Amino acid sequence: MRPKVFVARKMRDAGLNLVLDFCDADVWDQAMPPTRDVLLEKVRGVDGFISMLTDRVDAELLDAAGSQLKVVSNHAVGFDNIVVPDVTARGIPIGNTPGILTDATADIAFALLLAAGRRIVESERYIREGKWKTWHPSMLLGMDMAGKTLGIVGFGRIGRAVAKRAVGFGLRIIFYSPSAEPEFGAIKMNSLDELLKQSDFVSVHTPLNAATRHMVNADFLSKMKPNAVFVNTSRGPVVDQTALYEALKAKRIFAAGLDVTDPEPLPLDSPLLTLENCVILPHIGSASEHTRDEMARLAAENLIAGLKGERLPHCVNPEVYDRK
Ligand code: DGY
Repeated sequence: MRPKVFVARKMRDAGLNLVLDFCDADVWDQAMPPTRDVLLEKVRGVDGFISMLTDRVDAELLDAAGSQLKVVSNHAVGFDNIVVPDVTARGIPIGNTPGILTDATADIAFALLLAAGRRIVESERYIREGKWKTWHPSMLLGMDMAGKTLGIVGFGRIGRAVAKRAVGFGLRIIFYSPSAEPEFGAIKMNSLDELLKQSDFVSVHTPLNAATRHMVNADFLSKMKPNAVFVNTSRGPVVDQTALYEALKAKRIFAAGLDVTDPEPLPLDSPLLTLENCVILPHIGSASEHTRDEMARLAAENLIAGLKGERLPHCVNPEVYDRK
């Protein structure tokens, strides 16, 4: 009998076709995610589940699914939507999609560093609002990159890919990431405070966990240089958005670029949307055709391996195998 699976959103054919070839798949093809109640109903009795970063996977969902569930495959590299101990406690492997979205996400981080630093979005709005009357020596001035210092918080795959790009822009690169080694000429800082003191641009690349939730708070922002640019492409809750709003509004930092917010979608009445010096994108770090094909393929490969009882190619909780 073919395994029964639920795929929580219609993903790209590169992965979806693999799933359809191997399983009886129920694929959620609506634009909005299933509500919690619908999701709990959909996973009932499945052998495998492909979750999106918008689906919370916890004890309640696992209980609703039932004890036959063999694998949870997350269509994302981040997995803060999953309560990992709840899944591990049941001996179920969790898959994710590392590596293939590194370049796409680093590109967006760099796009935001430039967009916020050089006021790209504000300048575009300036034209559309009919404000462009002439060229002026002091019109829409931003921050240079060459010769300035970029501070990278979290020097994993994506942080290092940002460093690689920064070399070409003539930036001096420093990073804070206790367990990482220097690469691309980046200098390791012993403390976050030291990084913030020296950086003209700060880009955050940490996972969301208890230690990083609201890491970017009033204290963090107060340690940045007055003309510094802040960028976040990791997870929204890493930033205390009220503190960021206050800092941007009072011009205590120059500008910010966010690909992720808290919550997502960002409500239209968010004060951040009233600021000229804040560029906000709707979590498009990995949104390129090739990258999304690869994410779908990896999510499918993890799912199918789990259904066959094989080790997942990319497993978040490999300790489940130690017990078997
Ligand atoms: C991920 O995979 O964690 C990304 O945030 C999706 O873009």
